[in-house]
Amino acid sequence: MLKAIFMVISLLSFTAVAQGVTTVDIAQGRAIYATCMGCHSPERHRTGPQHCGLIGRKAGSAVGFDYSLAMQQSDIIWTKKTLDDFLTAPLRVIPGTKMAIAGISNKVDRANLISYLISLNQDAKCQYKEIP
Ligand code: HEC
Repeated sequence: MLKAIFMVISLLSFTAVAQGVTTVDIAQGRAIYATCMGCHSPERHRTGPQHCGLIGRKAGSAVGFDYSLAMQQSDIIWTKKTLDDFLTAPLRVIPGTKMAIAGISNKVDRANLISYLISLNQDAKCQYKEIP
């Protein structure tokens, strides 16, 4: 069973690499994510919502998190493109959001961070949320 899970994970990382994202990009993105961890964690809600399953979900829709009305009504689906816009200038893209940070001006930093966030959809810590 465990072996099968590892095989799926390595297949998925191979897919990511095939799409031009390297494990180095993801590792650099994880390092930048450290600056998000004051408020976020992949697997649980803190000051900000959890990021497991972020890609493809509607903004403001993670169950059990108290979002601003602005984010709930933003009509955004999180993709590479919408995340890139939002993370450049959160308050410009969603005026009234509770995520009051300046944003990440460096394009490469944003791309690496987004690669990390995408990789979370396949991360074991997101697949097994019941394990503390
Ligand atoms: C000062 C605290 C804080 C920091 C630092 C922070 N966030 Fe947030 N974030 C929030 C809050 C609060 C929300 C909910 C916003 C709302 O409801 O308007 C949020 C929401 C989000 C969302 C929308 C999630 C969803 O479920 O729709 C994303 C994506 C996000 N943050 C990414 C990041 C990333 C990436 C970083 C690091 C660069 C970061 N945040 C840093 C507080 C923070």
